[in-house]
Amino acid sequence: MDRMAVSPAVCAIVFLVAATCPVLGYVPQGAARRSAGARRSHGGARTYIVLVEPPPAGLQHADDEAAHRLWHESFLRGSGGGGRRRVRHSYTSVLSGFAARLTGGELAAVSRKPGFVRAFPERRVQLMTTRTPAFLGLEPGRGVWNATSYGEGAIIGFLDTGIDEKHPSFRDEGMPLPPARWKGACQPPVRCNNKLIGAASFVGDNTTTDDVGHGTHTTGTAAGRFVEGASAFGLGAGGGTAAGMAPGAHLAVYKVCDAQGCFESDLLAGMDAAVKDGVDVLSVSLGGVSTPLDKDPIAIGAFAAASKGVLVVCAGGNSGPLPSTLSNEAPWILTVAAGSVDRSFRATVRLGDGEMFEGESLTQDKHFSSMVYPLYYSQGMNYCDFFDANITGMMVVCDTETPVPPMSSIEAVREAGGVGVVFINEPDFGYTIVLEKYYNLPMSQVTAVDGTKIMGYAMKGSSRTNHTATIVFNSTVVGVKPAPTVAAFSSRGPSVASPGVLKPDIMAPGLNILAAWPSLVPVEGPESYSFNIISGTSMATPHVTGIVALVKKAHPDWSAAAIKSAIMTSSSAVDNEGNLIMDEEHQTASSYAVGAGHVVPAKAVDPGLVYDIGVHDYAGYICKLLGEAALKAIAGSANLTCAEVEPVGAAQLNYPAIVVPLRAEPFAVNRTVTNVGPARSSYTAKVDAPKGLTVKVEPAELEFTEVKERKTFTVTVSAAGASDEQKIAEGSLSWVSQDHVVRSPIVADSGITLMGC
Ligand SMILES: *[C@@H]1O[C@H](CO)[C@@H](O)[C@H](O)[C@H]1NC(C)=O
Ligand SMILES: *[C@@H]1O[C@H](CO)[C@@H](O)[C@H](O)[C@H]1NC(C)=O
Ligand SMILES: *[C@@H]1O[C@H](CO)[C@@H](O)[C@H](O)[C@H]1NC(C)=O
Ligand SMILES: *[C@@H]1O[C@H](CO)[C@@H](O)[C@H](O)[C@H]1NC(C)=O
Ligand SMILES: *[C@@H]1O[C@H](CO)[C@@H](O)[C@H](O)[C@H]1NC(C)=O
Ligand SMILES: *[C@@H]1O[C@H](CO)[C@@H](O)[C@H](O)[C@H]1NC(C)=O
Ligand SMILES: *[C@@H]1O[C@H](CO)[C@@H](O)[C@H](O)[C@H]1NC(C)=O
Repeated sequence: MDRMAVSPAVCAIVFLVAATCPVLGYVPQGAARRSAGARRSHGGARTYIVLVEPPPAGLQHADDEAAHRLWHESFLRGSGGGGRRRVRHSYTSVLSGFAARLTGGELAAVSRKPGFVRAFPERRVQLMTTRTPAFLGLEPGRGVWNATSYGEGAIIGFLDTGIDEKHPSFRDEGMPLPPARWKGACQPPVRCNNKLIGAASFVGDNTTTDDVGHGTHTTGTAAGRFVEGASAFGLGAGGGTAAGMAPGAHLAVYKVCDAQGCFESDLLAGMDAAVKDGVDVLSVSLGGVSTPLDKDPIAIGAFAAASKGVLVVCAGGNSGPLPSTLSNEAPWILTVAAGSVDRSFRATVRLGDGEMFEGESLTQDKHFSSMVYPLYYSQGMNYCDFFDANITGMMVVCDTETPVPPMSSIEAVREAGGVGVVFINEPDFGYTIVLEKYYNLPMSQVTAVDGTKIMGYAMKGSSRTNHTATIVFNSTVVGVKPAPTVAAFSSRGPSVASPGVLKPDIMAPGLNILAAWPSLVPVEGPESYSFNIISGTSMATPHVTGIVALVKKAHPDWSAAAIKSAIMTSSSAVDNEGNLIMDEEHQTASSYAVGAGHVVPAKAVDPGLVYDIGVHDYAGYICKLLGEAALKAIAGSANLTCAEVEPVGAAQLNYPAIVVPLRAEPFAVNRTVTNVGPARSSYTAKVDAPKGLTVKVEPAELEFTEVKERKTFTVTVSAAGASDEQKIAEGSLSWVSQDHVVRSPIVADSGITLMGC
């Protein structure tokens, strides 16, 4: 069951499998525990995350940490063995509590002790560039990179599989010392330098070495330094330079996963340490299935982080394109969707009749196209595990049921004497082609639409010499249109855990992303590479994290919600052809797929207005949605009760996106914007609404005379013109000034009930 351990490319597969068969892809609760003995069940024991009150005032000790630890250990005294050895992690920063292995009886004893709040069993969670800086408009020496000194001085924390700290992307020449406020350190044998300023493991192995590759890839994407001539398999940068989004930022790496997987109690320990150490932003390319916010350790930890100004950026999950498949949906988290890049690794299929289809491949064999080959497709044997003919010297067309073609089919073709393979994409994946490295046979991956035509050609005619084909490998092509489009695997809203809050929040590049790779982790075949191309919302997340670091550098005093708002309202709704961003089927994408839009770093540092949200607003939202006990679990450290805060319905939360019920009667929401642009600014409301949806904004003009001045307005939406069958209507509200456009999506959804609004 250890899919992650099989091969590095598997981190793409791990979640992608989930896209087609959630039952297999998701590791069910309690199943498939860590294979090494560490967490094997003894007498039904399992690891619980136990939330408790902060230590009572009487329990004083030399330092706060030790006092917490003693307090946590006291819950386990008298329950078999000393508390000391039993506490796996003691949490003090993002929550008050601990993790320990407990049997049912022990758990019952713990829960009777004074100070106990609640406990839940931990789950296993999943790990969910060269071209991308330019694609996102980042250029050396100019614009945002110049204005923010590449994020210099900002500290990015990563909860991941560790790091290959010797990779050239993480060298520290010319980097300044870490800021004085930094409290982290590097766990021996890793030596900190000015780039990598913190490294710690929470998986019990005392090393932050990345034996999976995922952590090195995400870290390089967010903050890798410039590396000349980066490529993987001779593809990618086109001899160009690789760099992360914030090449000047410092890194702190918290290893919470290894080749055996990721567990929530370790993840929470990493988050606790990162916030204590003083990171500015936290990147979490991990997640489990949707869980109520008060039982989701990432949501609980991220709440405390956000209240301390640390924005937590999380992968939205790889279970698309089905609706309501998101992970990490709390409103205080920045939830990231994955999109395509305008780059293609061309492998054009040219048929004997001259017709061409633009497939893609990571294995490029320029000599292959000097010949044409008979093309073979068998309707009965279309998955290429068996063949009903002699296919020696033929090119074989294969169907796939998975987004990534199975290596076993390629092996079967090769063993049967085939010379090449055309893989037809899984139909659900539309135009999204998830590339995988196959080293032993020339191949091209084509869309299902193209595949159907190629298949038709292969089956027509009777003589085996009449229908031929070849693959023309044309290396890396940039400027591909349309781009970006939503990647098929990117998880979709509407949110289950935060109904009525638009999720995902933002889209960033996540399809076929080239970034740093540990050379000790083999990619495929005999060669080793220091860069690799993989896909997932895991890859989109660190793009956004790096951009958060740039915004934080430009505006150190902004709240987590303000930074999030800046990134959302400045994003782009259109692709490189000027059309609304499309999904994997090349249909206009819903906000439930793309969020507010595609991230635009240059604009994110200068949004004009922000929609800010404070701890009390989030608390009011939690009270209204889940009640007092949930508030205590999520916001324990904030010492708030529901009696002290105004309840806030999902629609009324000051979110930079608007979700309302789709109904004829007008539905009004209030929003408050804060001026972070020029002191004297005037904004006019511009509404884009489809036929049948009426959107009124009152007042329709906002005049600011000061920086940080706040203005409230009301948006009233009615869908009097919508037909009965219509389920959803989408538009947008933009506040437009001379220099800024502050855009929020508006979604009217018949699935949103008035409860909680
Ligand atoms: C780069 O930033 C400096 C100040 O930080 C500014 O003076 C200079 O004009 C900027 N250069 C470009 C090309 O934007
Ligand atoms: C980790 O380090 C600690 C202290 O240096 C040591 O006691 C422990 O045995 C080490 N664990 C492993 C798995 O190496
Ligand atoms: C398959 O075809 C090739 C050439 O077309 C031939 O050399 C080979 O003997 C054939 N194999 C079988 C098992 O018929
Ligand atoms: C085979 O190709 C020849 C010449 O291109 C063509 O005339 C003939 O109709 C083809 N036969 C079939 C069955 O497609
Ligand atoms: C391959 O690239 C060349 C030049 O970049 C172009 O002229 C040619 O049309 C391309 N061929 C295919 C099959 O895409
Ligand atoms: C929590 O709030 C209550 C009342 O607002 C106050 O009496 C108490 O001291 C606070 N506790 C802590 C730990 O701040
Ligand atoms: C929105 O603001 C208006 C004007 O300040 C106020 O009358 C109204 O009650 C508010 N609505 C909600 C739902 O808070």
